[in-house]
This record gives sequence, C-alpha cells and structure tokens, in this order.
Amino acid sequence: MKKILCFLLILPGLILTARSDEGMWLPILLKSIEGDMQKNGFKLTAEDIYSVNKSSMKDAVVLFGGGCTGELISNEGLMLTNHHCGFGQIQSHSTVEKDYLTEGFWAMNKKEELQNPGLSVTFIIRMEDVTQKVLSGIKDKLTETERADMIKANIAKVSGELSKESYQSVAIRPFYNGNEFYAFVTETYKDVRLVGAPPQSIGNFGGDTDNWVWPRHNADFCIFRIYSGPDGKPAEYSENNIPYKPKYFFPVSMKGVDEDDFTMVYGFPGRTQEYISSYAVDFTMNYEDPTRIKIRDARLGLMLEDMRKNDTIRIQYASKYAGVANGWKKWKGEVKGLKKTNALEKKKIYESDFKKRVGMKGKKEGEILTKLGEIYQKYTPLKAEEVYFSEVYNGIEHLALANKTAALLTIPDEALLKAEALKLIPGAEGFFKNYTASVDHKIMAALLKIYAEDLGENRLPPYLLTLKKQYNNNWQEFADAYFKTSVFTDFGRFKAAMENPNLKTLSADPAILLANGMSLWYNSEILPPVGRMITSIDSLNRLYMTAQRTYMTEKKFYPDANSTLRVTYGRVEGFSPDDGITYSAFTTLDGLFEKNMAQPENPDYTYNKKLHTLYIKKDYGKYAAKDGKIHTCFIASNHTSGGNSGSPVLNDKGELIGINFDRCWEGTMSDINYDVSLCRNISADIRFVLFVVDKVAGAGYLLNEMKLIK
Ligand code: ARG
Ligand code: GLU
Repeated sequence: MKKILCFLLILPGLILTARSDEGMWLPILLKSIEGDMQKNGFKLTAEDIYSVNKSSMKDAVVLFGGGCTGELISNEGLMLTNHHCGFGQIQSHSTVEKDYLTEGFWAMNKKEELQNPGLSVTFIIRMEDVTQKVLSGIKDKLTETERADMIKANIAKVSGELSKESYQSVAIRPFYNGNEFYAFVTETYKDVRLVGAPPQSIGNFGGDTDNWVWPRHNADFCIFRIYSGPDGKPAEYSENNIPYKPKYFFPVSMKGVDEDDFTMVYGFPGRTQEYISSYAVDFTMNYEDPTRIKIRDARLGLMLEDMRKNDTIRIQYASKYAGVANGWKKWKGEVKGLKKTNALEKKKIYESDFKKRVGMKGKKEGEILTKLGEIYQKYTPLKAEEVYFSEVYNGIEHLALANKTAALLTIPDEALLKAEALKLIPGAEGFFKNYTASVDHKIMAALLKIYAEDLGENRLPPYLLTLKKQYNNNWQEFADAYFKTSVFTDFGRFKAAMENPNLKTLSADPAILLANGMSLWYNSEILPPVGRMITSIDSLNRLYMTAQRTYMTEKKFYPDANSTLRVTYGRVEGFSPDDGITYSAFTTLDGLFEKNMAQPENPDYTYNKKLHTLYIKKDYGKYAAKDGKIHTCFIASNHTSGGNSGSPVLNDKGELIGINFDRCWEGTMSDINYDVSLCRNISADIRFVLFVVDKVAGAGYLLNEMKLIK
C-alpha cells in the first residue's frame, strides 16, 4: 500500500514533465520543444512543421481576412476556415431570393465560385530573428519616446534590407513585450473565392445559446479557393487567374480521433497576457470584466426582450447581439476560471518568489514590481472609469453617428457644409437599416442610470452631472424627451437635417450635446493620463519580462500571442469544470437532435431537414466513426485563443482531423492563466465536415481534390 502511495505521489510530477500543454510556440523555435512534442506522441519533426529549405506544414496555413486562420487542403488552392470567419462573405452574397445563410451555398464547379472583393489570405514565407538589428543603438537611458522612435527607424531600415521578392511583403513584430523582434516575409493573395458554406442550421447550429459552450454540435466551416495569377504569383481578381498551387497542403485523416490522441493546432492566435503582474490580473478580474459584464447584462437583456417580441428587431439585432454576447460570455468564463484557479494568489506567490531570488543575487529588479504596484494604484481606478465610459458610450447605438456628425459644426463655409452633410446620408442609411429607436431608447436610459449611480459625482462627465440634477436622476424621463426630438434616432429626420443643414439646430440636438458632453470630457480628462500610465506600464512590463526570464529559469517562456503564426499541442480529452460535472471529449449527431427535442422553440436549435433525413436513415457513407455514429465535435487541451478560429487541428502524423472554432467558457482565462485541468479548445470533427460536403450538400466532387488518408 505504502509503495503504491509513494508511486502515486511521484507520478503527478512525472506527468508534469512529460506534459506541456501550455504554450503557443513560434514555429522557428520549435527545436527546443520537439522532444517534448514527440514524448507526447508526435511522430514527425520540427522541420516538418516549419522549414525554409523544403515545403512544410507552414506553407498550408494562412491568416484569413482580418483575424482568422485557414488551411490548404488541396493542390488546387482549396482552403478551409470557420463558417463564422467567412460569415461576412457568405452574407454579402445573400439576398432574400438566394439566402445562402439559411440555405447554404455550393459551387458545383469552379465557374460557380463567388468572388470576394476586399478579402485576402496571407502566407508566411519565412521568419527571422532581427532583435539585434532592431535594438542596435538602443540604450537603457533613452526615454520611452526616444526608444520608440529609434526602434521605428531601425525597423524601417531592417525591413528595407531584408531579401524578398517584389510581390512579397515584410512585417517586423515585437515579442516578449518588446524585448525581441522577428521579421516575417509574407505573400498575400487577394483573389479568394467562396466555394461552399453549409446552411446556418449546420454551420452555426446552437448559435449564441451554444457559443463558448461544450457540448457542441455544429460544423463551423466553409470553403474558399485561393487563386493566383497565371504565373502562380499573387494577383488581383481576374478571370485569367488560376487555382493557387500551394507548396504544401494537409492530407485529411478519415481514421478519426480517440481520447488521449496527440493533437496540434497551427494558426494565428491574437492576444494573450501570460506574464502580467498580479496588479494587472486584479484589474481584469475584479474591475474590468465585472464592469463590462454588468453593463452588457443590461444591454443584452433589453435587446433580447424586444428581439423575442418582434421578428424585424430579431433580424436587425441578431449580429449585434452576437457580437456583444461573445465578449460578455468570454469574460464571465474568464472571471470564473481566474477565481477557480486562484490566479491572483498564484501570481502573488510567484512575485514574492521572484523578489526573493532577485534579492539573493543582490540585484535590483524587484523594484520593477514595486513600481508597477505604485502605478496600478492610480491606474486601476482611472482605467476602471474608462471601461465604464466605453461600455456606456458604445452601448448607446446612435452616439457614434452623432459624434461623426458633430464634425460638421466646425465647417464655416456653407457650400462645403452642405456637401459634407450630404456625404453622411448613405452611411446613416446603413446604420438605420439595423436600428430600432425604441430598443436604443430603453438601453440608453438603463445605461446612463447605471453609469450615474455607480460612479461618484465628481467622476461623471460634468454634462451628465448637470443632466442628473436636471432630471433628478430620472434617466427614463431624460431619454423620453431626447428621443422625441433628436434627429439621430430616426432616419427620416436625419436625412432631412442633412439635406438642409442648420448649424444652430444641429448644435442644440440632444444627441450632439450628449456625444460631445461625454467624448470631449473623455478626451481631455481620461485618455491623456491613462495613455501616460500605459506607457509606463509597458516599459516596466518589458523589464519585468526580461527579469522573469533571467530568474525564473525552470519556467518555459513562450512569447504571448500577437497574431503571429504559432503551434500549440495537447491531446484529446474531456474535463471536469465543476464538482460533479464531467464532460466527455466527443459529441455525436444524436446530441444535435436531442438539443432540438429539449428546446424545440429555440431557433438556435432548428435543425437541417436534409441532415435529419440522413440521420434517420443512418446514411453516413464512409464518414461514420467506429461506433457507427457521426462524431460532430471534440475537445482537446490545446492552448488556443481568439484568432485560432479556423485553424487546422492535426494528429501525430500531421493529418487534418478537425477545424478549431471555439474554447470552453470555463477555461477562457487561458489568455491569462492557462490551466490544463480547465482549458479546452473545441473543434469540428473533419469527418463531420466531409459528411456535410458530400452527403448534405452533394458537393462530393471536392473530395476528389483532397488527399484522404483511410
Ligand atoms: N466564440 C467564438 C469566437 O470567439 C465564436 C463566435 C461566433 N459564433 C457565435 N455563435 N456567435 O470567435
Ligand atoms: N472563436 C474564436 C475565434 O474567432 C476562437 C475561440 C477562442 O477564442 O479560442 O478566433
């Protein structure tokens, strides 16, 4: 018995060294963790993932559009990403008559593919450490501004010197809080055509109800094709362009995934902050997130109330609601996870350990934390006010339009004024298309009330303080009068006002008064001091980063995410977020229909009829798993973040087994404090994706281009 106990006590230690799920690694620095990856089951080498000498996996991973990831899956430029990443494109091709969001879209040959102006994908051709060159001449004594200017000049110089082809670009990015710099030579393709998208009832099954939540049952994917010029190089859209021939594309595994299998995600995570001080964690967990959650609670509740009652409002506000709710749900999970993992306490213990080690060496870096603590004493309350301000200001929909229109007030010339006013009409028309004044009206009254009640009198913009007194804190009454007269809450009134601009009436419009009263105060009282403090915090964080790497030697330091290409690995595994709750790693089609059965009235759970027919007939073709079912999604312990949407999920042999599209909300604190017991990424099983392409969409011809591993 004793022996067993002893063994058990040692075992967790062993597991810790063998497992290293935390980390988003730069592909050129993989050599240092290659052994660890292999210990965890990876059968290939670092050179297979990233190589400058031969084609490698990195040649099949692209930055898609603004901030998603895509992967090449055929020799003819076929590329996968998430449905929610291609959503804008799918929507832009949709009309009431051909509603691709609802019905899905499938090109049955290359001629039917749809062009997407403004969309591009970027390949990383190579990366290079240019730290020494970028930091050459930088002395400790420089002020932050001098340092920034010098770095900027150095970056310009280094970028110019880097060897590259005329059709390639160079970007140099800071890592480790500005202590290291890497150059990226890239190729951007602008002819990217939509090949196919499943109906929303499959691609976004579960909608906002399921967003950030496990278990999940959607195939969050769509397919594009990248085109190059006839010479194979990047080119603007042209009929003469040809399907892009990638240097590498991912083979697709038909063998499926099992619990405990090695997985790896290759993509472009956006932003993490793993090395911040306890003061910063305290701010996020106890000030920023709770404030944003509280104000959005009010906003979302009021939106939903009207969306439920009225179909026009439901459609108008669907996308806005999704955007507001996405952050809200993520932050709720973040606070929960930070508390559950004692993140703040852990940081404090780490910091005192750090100070002790520094002190033992007779060094001074402990002061960095003291200084950070001093700044945060002033920064935390002020920044918290900024968070309040921004959530309230941005929560009142029409204020942005009022703010933009306020610029007219400074135009002295009448003809110019008329011309500029007319220019505002088309944009406003777009805004009002998805706007219902009664919703904004209610939200404005509620948000101003929270703002006026939560912030001390002397911390409110003076204009709001005046209103508070004038209306005796009755913001509903204020809003009622306001919405009756303002031209910014009704398109007809706004259009008339712009066709005949009158500066006197415009400057007395309650929306202009409110927008100015809030934003001018913000720009003079909040923004400048917050900006100065952020500069100091950034510079201290830079020093702290170096010091952590010097003294906390047993820790592996990967650079925080910054939208550059990263590799992360883990394994397929369920987890237990709360006492008594255990999640398994897989879902199947059964669960999709069960959700509908449990909540038939929930539109997020409306299922696709074709999918249902196939399900009833168990017509699964070659896409069923060993248990005879269609596996829909799986979770794994890969360290991912926003921006990893659409990333390829690969097995031990580098074959595609899934598409990453979300994280479990209980572990969204992984951006600050990754914990393998709680953090899971969510992926769609690639067999589910192919099943939809072939059996639901009838676009099986696309599979002929792919390399399927049986
Ligand atoms: N939570 C995911 C992300 O952060 C997906 C968002 C889109 N999906 C949705 N149902 N709203 O981007
Ligand atoms: N849905 C996220 C994205 O668009 C991925 C989820 C996450 O934040 O990990 O990138």
